[in-house]
Amino acid sequence: MNGPKEVNARDRMIVALDLPTVKEAEAMVARLGDSVTFYKIGYQLAFAGGLSFAESLIGAGKKVFLDLKLHDIGNTVAKGVESVAKVGATFLTVHAYPQTMKAAVEAKRGASLRILAVTVLTSYDDADLFAAGSKLGVSALVAQRAGQARDLGVDGLVCSAEEAANLRKLVGPSMALVTPGIRPAGAAAGDQKRVMTPARAIAAGADYLVIGRPIVEAADPKAAAEAIFTEMKQAIT
Ligand code: C5P
Repeated sequence: MNGPKEVNARDRMIVALDLPTVKEAEAMVARLGDSVTFYKIGYQLAFAGGLSFAESLIGAGKKVFLDLKLHDIGNTVAKGVESVAKVGATFLTVHAYPQTMKAAVEAKRGASLRILAVTVLTSYDDADLFAAGSKLGVSALVAQRAGQARDLGVDGLVCSAEEAANLRKLVGPSMALVTPGIRPAGAAAGDQKRVMTPARAIAAGADYLVIGRPIVEAADPKAAAEAIFTEMKQAIT
Protein backbone atom coordinates (compact mmCIF):
# COMPACT_ATOMS: atom_id res chain seq x y z
CA MET A 1 0.00 0.00 0.00
CA ASN A 2 1.30 3.39 -0.91
CA GLY A 3 1.46 5.74 2.07
CA PRO A 4 -0.87 8.75 1.88
CA LYS A 5 2.05 11.00 0.89
CA GLU A 6 2.35 9.20 -2.46
CA VAL A 7 -1.40 9.33 -3.14
CA ASN A 8 -2.87 12.24 -5.09
CA ALA A 9 -4.76 14.41 -2.56
CA ARG A 10 -7.97 14.29 -4.59
CA ASP A 11 -7.89 10.48 -4.56
CA ARG A 12 -8.11 10.65 -0.74
CA MET A 13 -11.71 11.92 -0.94
CA ILE A 14 -14.15 9.06 -1.61
CA VAL A 15 -17.77 9.92 -2.36
CA ALA A 16 -20.36 7.35 -1.22
CA LEU A 17 -22.87 6.85 -4.04
CA ASP A 18 -25.69 5.83 -1.70
CA LEU A 19 -28.36 6.15 -4.35
CA PRO A 20 -31.15 3.75 -5.38
CA THR A 21 -30.61 3.59 -9.14
CA VAL A 22 -27.77 3.63 -11.64
CA LYS A 23 -29.57 6.47 -13.43
CA GLU A 24 -29.32 8.68 -10.34
CA ALA A 25 -25.72 7.61 -9.75
CA GLU A 26 -24.80 8.48 -13.35
CA ALA A 27 -26.41 11.89 -12.98
CA MET A 28 -24.50 12.53 -9.73
CA VAL A 29 -21.17 11.46 -11.26
CA ALA A 30 -21.84 13.78 -14.23
CA ARG A 31 -22.60 16.70 -11.87
CA LEU A 32 -19.45 16.10 -9.85
CA GLY A 33 -17.26 15.85 -12.98
CA ASP A 34 -13.53 16.21 -12.34
CA SER A 35 -14.11 17.24 -8.71
CA VAL A 36 -14.38 13.58 -7.66
CA THR A 37 -12.06 10.76 -8.71
CA PHE A 38 -13.03 8.02 -6.24
CA TYR A 39 -16.51 6.55 -5.56
CA LYS A 40 -17.83 4.08 -3.03
CA ILE A 41 -20.61 1.69 -4.04
CA GLY A 42 -22.43 -0.18 -1.28
CA TYR A 43 -25.30 -2.65 -1.00
CA GLN A 44 -28.02 -0.29 -2.19
CA LEU A 45 -26.53 0.49 -5.59
CA ALA A 46 -24.53 -2.75 -5.99
CA PHE A 47 -27.72 -4.81 -5.94
CA ALA A 48 -29.46 -2.43 -8.35
CA GLY A 49 -27.06 -2.73 -11.28
CA GLY A 50 -24.19 -1.00 -9.50
CA LEU A 51 -21.59 -3.64 -10.28
CA SER A 52 -21.79 -3.06 -14.05
CA PHE A 53 -21.89 0.65 -13.27
CA ALA A 54 -18.66 0.19 -11.27
CA GLU A 55 -17.03 -1.29 -14.37
CA SER A 56 -18.07 1.68 -16.49
CA LEU A 57 -16.80 4.13 -13.86
CA ILE A 58 -13.45 2.32 -13.86
CA GLY A 59 -13.47 2.37 -17.68
CA ALA A 60 -13.98 6.14 -17.48
CA GLY A 61 -10.86 6.49 -15.31
CA LYS A 62 -12.48 6.70 -11.86
CA LYS A 63 -11.46 4.64 -8.85
CA VAL A 64 -14.06 2.45 -7.14
CA PHE A 65 -14.40 1.21 -3.58
CA LEU A 66 -16.82 -1.75 -3.43
CA ASP A 67 -18.22 -1.72 0.11
CA LEU A 68 -19.60 -5.26 0.10
CA LYS A 69 -18.32 -6.34 3.54
CA LEU A 70 -17.73 -9.96 2.50
CA HIS A 71 -17.79 -12.77 5.08
CA ASP A 72 -18.18 -16.47 4.23
CA ILE A 73 -16.10 -19.65 4.18
CA GLY A 74 -12.61 -19.01 2.87
CA ASN A 75 -13.15 -20.65 -0.52
CA THR A 76 -16.25 -18.56 -1.24
CA VAL A 77 -14.55 -15.34 -0.13
CA ALA A 78 -11.56 -16.14 -2.35
CA LYS A 79 -13.73 -16.72 -5.44
CA GLY A 80 -15.62 -13.47 -4.78
CA VAL A 81 -12.40 -11.52 -4.38
CA GLU A 82 -11.05 -12.96 -7.65
CA SER A 83 -14.15 -11.67 -9.46
CA VAL A 84 -13.89 -8.22 -7.83
CA ALA A 85 -10.20 -8.04 -8.77
CA LYS A 86 -11.12 -8.63 -12.44
CA VAL A 87 -13.56 -5.70 -12.32
CA GLY A 88 -10.62 -3.42 -11.46
CA ALA A 89 -11.92 -2.05 -8.15
CA THR A 90 -9.38 -0.29 -5.92
CA PHE A 91 -10.85 -1.16 -2.49
CA LEU A 92 -13.08 -3.99 -1.25
CA THR A 93 -14.29 -4.42 2.33
CA VAL A 94 -14.43 -7.70 4.25
CA HIS A 95 -15.35 -8.36 7.87
CA ALA A 96 -12.26 -8.71 10.05
CA TYR A 97 -12.50 -12.43 10.79
CA PRO A 98 -9.13 -14.16 10.41
CA GLN A 99 -10.27 -16.84 7.90
CA THR A 100 -12.04 -14.26 5.80
CA MET A 101 -9.12 -11.81 5.79
CA LYS A 102 -6.59 -14.56 5.00
CA ALA A 103 -8.65 -15.85 2.07
CA ALA A 104 -9.18 -12.33 0.69
CA VAL A 105 -5.50 -11.35 0.92
CA GLU A 106 -4.38 -14.57 -0.78
CA ALA A 107 -7.00 -14.29 -3.54
CA LYS A 108 -6.16 -10.72 -4.58
CA ARG A 109 -2.42 -11.39 -4.83
CA GLY A 110 -1.00 -9.80 -7.97
CA ALA A 111 -4.07 -7.61 -8.57
CA SER A 112 -4.19 -3.89 -7.85
CA LEU A 113 -7.19 -4.48 -5.56
CA ARG A 114 -6.67 -3.53 -1.90
CA ILE A 115 -8.52 -5.29 0.91
CA LEU A 116 -9.98 -3.20 3.75
CA ALA A 117 -11.16 -4.85 6.96
CA VAL A 118 -14.13 -3.67 9.00
CA THR A 119 -13.15 -4.41 12.61
CA VAL A 120 -16.43 -3.93 14.50
CA LEU A 121 -19.46 -2.31 12.89
CA THR A 122 -20.01 1.13 14.38
CA SER A 123 -23.64 0.31 15.14
CA TYR A 124 -22.44 -2.29 17.69
CA ASP A 125 -21.85 -1.45 21.35
CA ASP A 126 -20.49 -3.77 24.06
CA ALA A 127 -23.95 -5.19 24.81
CA ASP A 128 -24.53 -6.03 21.13
CA LEU A 129 -21.19 -7.86 20.99
CA PHE A 130 -21.90 -9.85 24.16
CA ALA A 131 -25.36 -10.75 22.79
CA ALA A 132 -23.63 -12.02 19.64
CA GLY A 133 -21.35 -14.26 21.74
CA SER A 134 -18.21 -12.13 21.99
CA LYS A 135 -16.31 -12.14 25.28
CA LEU A 136 -14.66 -8.83 24.35
CA GLY A 137 -16.18 -5.36 24.28
CA VAL A 138 -15.81 -2.96 21.36
CA SER A 139 -12.41 -1.41 22.07
CA ALA A 140 -10.70 -4.72 22.92
CA LEU A 141 -12.20 -6.45 19.88
CA VAL A 142 -11.28 -3.58 17.54
CA ALA A 143 -7.68 -3.78 18.80
CA GLN A 144 -7.55 -7.57 18.48
CA ARG A 145 -8.97 -7.59 14.95
CA ALA A 146 -6.80 -4.66 13.80
CA GLY A 147 -3.70 -6.55 14.95
CA GLN A 148 -4.87 -9.69 13.15
CA ALA A 149 -5.56 -7.67 9.98
CA ARG A 150 -2.04 -6.22 10.06
CA ASP A 151 -0.46 -9.64 10.67
CA LEU A 152 -2.42 -11.20 7.79
CA GLY A 153 -1.31 -8.52 5.32
CA VAL A 154 -4.64 -6.71 4.97
CA ASP A 155 -4.11 -3.36 3.20
CA GLY A 156 -6.24 -1.13 5.38
CA LEU A 157 -9.01 -0.64 7.94
CA VAL A 158 -12.32 1.15 7.91
CA CYS A 159 -12.56 3.08 11.17
CA SER A 160 -14.10 6.16 12.71
CA ALA A 161 -11.85 9.23 12.72
CA GLU A 162 -11.92 9.03 16.53
CA GLU A 163 -10.27 5.59 16.38
CA ALA A 164 -7.71 6.62 13.74
CA ALA A 165 -4.95 7.92 16.02
CA ASN A 166 -5.01 4.84 18.28
CA LEU A 167 -5.21 2.43 15.35
CA ARG A 168 -2.31 4.17 13.63
CA LYS A 169 -0.17 3.50 16.73
CA LEU A 170 -1.31 -0.10 16.79
CA VAL A 171 -0.91 -1.04 13.12
CA GLY A 172 1.97 1.25 12.07
CA PRO A 173 2.34 3.45 9.01
CA SER A 174 1.71 1.05 6.15
CA MET A 175 -2.01 0.26 6.54
CA ALA A 176 -4.53 2.68 5.01
CA LEU A 177 -7.08 4.10 7.45
CA VAL A 178 -10.37 4.87 5.71
CA THR A 179 -12.86 6.91 7.71
CA PRO A 180 -16.58 7.60 7.21
CA GLY A 181 -18.60 9.85 9.55
CA ILE A 182 -17.15 13.06 8.09
CA ARG A 183 -19.10 16.29 8.40
CA PRO A 184 -17.89 19.75 7.39
CA ALA A 185 -18.47 22.28 10.20
CA GLY A 186 -22.16 23.19 10.35
CA ALA A 187 -23.40 20.21 8.29
CA ALA A 188 -26.19 17.96 9.57
CA ALA A 189 -24.87 14.82 11.28
CA GLY A 190 -27.86 12.72 10.12
CA ASP A 191 -27.66 9.29 11.78
CA GLN A 192 -23.89 9.53 12.36
CA LYS A 193 -23.15 9.79 16.08
CA ARG A 194 -19.39 10.35 16.08
CA VAL A 195 -18.54 12.87 13.39
CA MET A 196 -15.39 14.81 12.60
CA THR A 197 -14.57 17.60 10.16
CA PRO A 198 -12.41 16.70 7.13
CA ALA A 199 -9.42 18.66 8.48
CA ARG A 200 -9.58 17.03 11.92
CA ALA A 201 -9.91 13.56 10.42
CA ILE A 202 -6.78 14.09 8.29
CA ALA A 203 -4.93 15.46 11.34
CA ALA A 204 -6.01 12.35 13.31
CA GLY A 205 -4.27 10.15 10.75
CA ALA A 206 -7.01 9.23 8.28
CA ASP A 207 -5.66 8.47 4.79
CA TYR A 208 -8.99 8.41 2.96
CA LEU A 209 -12.26 10.13 3.89
CA VAL A 210 -15.61 8.62 2.86
CA ILE A 211 -18.24 11.31 2.42
CA GLY A 212 -21.84 10.67 1.41
CA ARG A 213 -24.72 12.97 2.27
CA PRO A 214 -22.72 16.19 2.77
CA ILE A 215 -21.92 15.98 -0.96
CA VAL A 216 -24.66 13.87 -2.54
CA GLU A 217 -27.53 15.70 -0.79
CA ALA A 218 -26.03 19.19 -1.12
CA ALA A 219 -27.90 21.77 -3.22
CA ASP A 220 -24.69 22.09 -5.24
CA PRO A 221 -22.80 18.77 -4.91
CA LYS A 222 -19.80 19.92 -6.96
CA ALA A 223 -19.33 23.04 -4.82
CA ALA A 224 -19.67 20.92 -1.65
CA ALA A 225 -17.04 18.47 -2.94
CA GLU A 226 -14.64 21.29 -3.82
CA ALA A 227 -15.10 22.91 -0.39
CA ILE A 228 -14.34 19.60 1.37
CA PHE A 229 -11.37 18.94 -0.90
CA THR A 230 -9.95 22.41 -0.18
CA GLU A 231 -10.26 21.75 3.57
CA MET A 232 -8.55 18.35 3.16
CA LYS A 233 -5.73 19.78 1.07
CA GLN A 234 -5.00 22.47 3.64
CA ALA A 235 -4.83 19.80 6.35
CA ILE A 236 -2.56 17.56 4.25
CA THR A 237 0.08 20.21 3.46
O1 C5P B 1 -23.78 9.99 4.23
P1 C5P B 1 -22.57 9.67 5.05
O2 C5P B 1 -21.43 10.65 4.85
O3 C5P B 1 -22.89 9.43 6.50
O4 C5P B 1 -22.08 8.29 4.43
C1 C5P B 1 -21.05 7.54 4.98
C2 C5P B 1 -20.86 6.28 4.20
O5 C5P B 1 -19.94 5.47 4.90
C3 C5P B 1 -22.11 5.43 4.01
O6 C5P B 1 -21.98 4.77 2.75
C4 C5P B 1 -22.03 4.45 5.15
O7 C5P B 1 -22.64 3.21 4.85
C5 C5P B 1 -20.53 4.24 5.28
N1 C5P B 1 -20.09 3.79 6.60
C6 C5P B 1 -20.37 4.47 7.77
N2 C5P B 1 -19.91 4.01 8.97
C7 C5P B 1 -19.18 2.92 9.01
C8 C5P B 1 -18.86 2.22 7.85
C9 C5P B 1 -19.34 2.69 6.64
O8 C5P B 1 -21.04 5.50 7.76
N3 C5P B 1 -18.71 2.52 10.16
